[in-house]
Amino acid sequence: MEIIVQPDSEQASWLAARLVRKIILEKPQPVIGLATGNTPLLLYKYLIKMHHEEGLDFSRVVTFNLDEYVGLSPDHPASFHNFMWKNLFSQINIKPQNVHIPDGLAPDIQKFCERYEEEIKAAGGIDIQILGLGTNGHIGFNEPSSSLTSRTRIKSLTAQTRKSNAVFFGGEENVPYHAITMGIGTILDARICLLMAFGQKKAKAIAMAVEGPLTAMVPASALQLHPKAIILLDRDAASELKHLDYYQWVYDHKPRWQKF
Ligand code: F6R
Repeated sequence: MEIIVQPDSEQASWLAARLVRKIILEKPQPVIGLATGNTPLLLYKYLIKMHHEEGLDFSRVVTFNLDEYVGLSPDHPASFHNFMWKNLFSQINIKPQNVHIPDGLAPDIQKFCERYEEEIKAAGGIDIQILGLGTNGHIGFNEPSSSLTSRTRIKSLTAQTRKSNAVFFGGEENVPYHAITMGIGTILDARICLLMAFGQKKAKAIAMAVEGPLTAMVPASALQLHPKAIILLDRDAASELKHLDYYQWVYDHKPRWQKF
């Protein structure tokens, strides 16, 4: 794992946007895995800025989102469909047919999930998967105890996750109980995993994921198995890491050609 600590979420997100831009410029058909939530908002803001100011072209980009609530229609204000179109897709030149987000209204969820996996494969696999981190260590909606080899499927949300998302639904009682999510195995198949976490409330989960044991009880710890996992943090999220000095030394001494 490469652990990169930046002074704040603005600078960390700018670095993330540069990495995504590099992949978009290098690949003939870049495939990007996307997340929703607060964490990637600044990254999306910078990608939109790159599109408007430098002409960064998204017409060849294919996207796959991590997850969606079961039972929500795409136009529900709290759906991840709505989030993605509002915060990114409507402001770049992506082709709607290249966007993939799990269908919360799929009549046969299992079949839908199998097809989602096949679509990722048919696109050539994910070049970079953007990830946020739940305070309980989840990635996507892979809650603690999720199989470390799981594929796209339906998951029950924990009480903690439903509580964290209550603001988007006008109360906890309105938050769905289930979601479709890429599995941990699906996420680990991406060629690069970029996990971002900002703020003090993520510090414990980051310390467990990065320096704790590999365990299904902290799904993000599965990134320890990945050959190219980048953990991009602000100072607060990094504050409980025991080997922070080492990670910073490594980053400061990284050869120029390896930087993005
Ligand atoms: C969202 C997702 C979740 C979030 C995580 C952190 O698509 O998969 O795992 O990344 O819950 O959420 P925020 O960024 O709102 O703190």
